[in-house]
Amino acid sequence: MAYETILYEVESQVATLTINRPKALNALSPQVLDEVSRAIDEAAADKSVRVMILTGAGKAFVAGADIAVMSTMSPLEARRFARKGQEVLFMLERLEKPVIAAVNGFALGGGCEISMACDFIWASEKAKFGQPEVNLGVMPGFGGTQRLSRLVGKNWAKELCLTGGMISADQAKEIGLVNRVFPADEFMSEVNKMAQEMAGKGRVALRGIKNMVDEGYDLPLERALSMEAEAFATCFASNDQKEGMSAFLEKRKPKFRTN
Ligand code: CAA
Repeated sequence: MAYETILYEVESQVATLTINRPKALNALSPQVLDEVSRAIDEAAADKSVRVMILTGAGKAFVAGADIAVMSTMSPLEARRFARKGQEVLFMLERLEKPVIAAVNGFALGGGCEISMACDFIWASEKAKFGQPEVNLGVMPGFGGTQRLSRLVGKNWAKELCLTGGMISADQAKEIGLVNRVFPADEFMSEVNKMAQEMAGKGRVALRGIKNMVDEGYDLPLERALSMEAEAFATCFASNDQKEGMSAFLEKRKPKFRTN
């Protein structure tokens, strides 16, 4: 499929989606959102894809929603734009394959928001995070007030959104937004290594883990545990369970099916 504002490549069961408008620091325009949603659909439909990496070209991950585009929006258009962004971020969250946010640089506004819709965030030491919308006279619209508070608590979410300040990758790790921070020159090779490793695991288990953590999070524990037992049982209907457990007992590495 032809894309103009993103790069989409699949190699060894890992799809890498790179937002590619480096001159505008990868700002999310309607066209970028549209192409990201098409690439997510492509990854969902492609059985050879097990894991996705989301990253940005150049010095930014994503410096936010496109301010030039938003500057002339009416309230009605702004609401539509926010809903569109939210929908695309939901698609990432609901993709039944793990998505790693590989944050290589600025992750501001919509950039911080899209990273939070991935399954976890790994950052280069050069990354910076923030929700600077308040500096533009507006507020986050792609889930910043909601996913941030769920990830790091209300106090940090309020501080970041109300001050519009930026934090470093290490500070983002300290507050629990980022899982790991890497030296810039090793960053993408470490992300690729982890993605390859995950891609070698069983598909049913990967899907079950992602779905259950997300779906169970907002449910009462008892209900979520009962759903977990169902998902656990589903694994036992798969070849992956047979292969994984036989391999353990036979003291060899499992070879999970690739389709
Ligand atoms: N939208 C559109 N263009 C952007 C942009 C954005 N979010 N961020 C940067 N750019 C453009 C700049 O306008 C500039 O373009 P020109 O070369 O044509 O002038 C180019 O990218 C490079 O940017 P800078 O010269 O500003 O680069 P810098 O290194 O000096 O500063 C920065 C980097 C601190 C990230 C700065 O660009 C910046 O503050 N960007 C805006 C960040 C922001 O406010 N993001 C939130 C947007 S609102 C939002 O996202 C709402 C929402 O929740 C949906």
